[in-house]
Amino acid sequence: MPAAPDKPVLLTGASGNLGRVLARELTALGWTLRLTDLAPFPDPLPERASFTRMDLADGVGLLRLAEGCGAILHFGGISVEQPFGTVLGPNIQGLYHVYEAARREGARVIFASSNHSIGFHERPQGNAAKLDVDCAFRPDGFYGLSKAYGELMGRTYWDKHGVENVNFRIGSCFPEPTEARMLATWLSFADLVRLCEAAVTAPRSGHCVIWACSNNPASFWGRDHRDRIGWQPRGQCGSVPRQGRPHHLGQPGDRALPGRRLHRDRLFPRQALGGGCLRSRLSRAPRQRARSCSARPGGKRRCCPGRAPPSPGCPAAAPRCWRPCRSAPTRMRASPAPS
Ligand SMILES: NC(=O)c1ccc[n+]([C@@H]2O[C@H](COP(=O)([O-])OP(=O)(O)OC[C@H]3O[C@@H](n4cnc5c(N)ncnc54)[C@H](O)[C@@H]3O)[C@@H](O)[C@H]2O)c1
Repeated sequence: MPAAPDKPVLLTGASGNLGRVLARELTALGWTLRLTDLAPFPDPLPERASFTRMDLADGVGLLRLAEGCGAILHFGGISVEQPFGTVLGPNIQGLYHVYEAARREGARVIFASSNHSIGFHERPQGNAAKLDVDCAFRPDGFYGLSKAYGELMGRTYWDKHGVENVNFRIGSCFPEPTEARMLATWLSFADLVRLCEAAVTAPRSGHCVIWACSNNPASFWGRDHRDRIGWQPRGQCGSVPRQGRPHHLGQPGDRALPGRRLHRDRLFPRQALGGGCLRSRLSRAPRQRARSCSARPGGKRRCCPGRAPPSPGCPAAAPRCWRPCRSAPTRMRASPAPS
């Protein structure tokens, strides 16, 4: 386990889903954290942590907060698709403030980017090559566009000012996978914490981009720069076709982290996914997928535009898009999940 960083680390978005996990777990590892967010910090303040309520729009405030910090974990901002005007301030201007603070302090930036920066790539099928991290940006909305911009901002600040930065293209970071796509994209909390440790404590990083997902056999992401910081995920999300009951597999550390167990057979109940083996359901012929796409109003629905007709009224009906249909309430989550 790497030693705790010598200098304090600034964490933006500390009151968010991932920020709260990082605040708890990194302080438990002996890190000194400066937490900040627009929203109040909802948990008891961990030892060795301070909290400042602040908008990312406050550039001077960020400069002050970052004073003496060795790294900035930038997890704050808009985390779902929103209109351009909503994304612009926090995700573009706020990011600029973070980079200016890092430049002044000589700090490394760890940026929570997203798979939505490349969301319009086709999902590789069969033996097709996996997507490497240097594939072209193909953002699937204003949110994804802001993440692509964030990664490019990192590129510029490294090339021009020598500000090191590690960009996590996060898949789906939740306590446990909640939908079929996460068989490929899930990142366990424990792997996220280890990734942050590696990104902050690596002797050198330069500018690097990492597919932030666990060791999922179904992953469609290929090469990245993880060797530069010495990170290897240990969590895993898989399925057991013979028993016909998909489940994900965790490491001991993964089970311990959020105070919840990774249950083997509980996550994809037959009635929610139409029964049978999840992997074989995903590889069925397009006609069958089309049927499952529009089945069960109010239940789990998924659009496969380009391969199957989208659900009625689905806003995601763009070519090559493969994502959950947000037009109907799902049983598994009430609001759009950050991704
Ligand atoms: N959770 C995932 O699966 C996932 C996947 C891909 C990328 N990410 C990225 O990781 C980061 C954290 O994700 P999350 O799930 O914790 O999101 P979240 O929405 O729970 O947290 C984001 C936090 O940013 C804060 N924030 C928003 N606007 C702000 C502003 N103007 N000033 C200061 N703070 C502001 C919010 O109050 C919130 O607490 C986000 O950048 C998100 O885009 C997450």
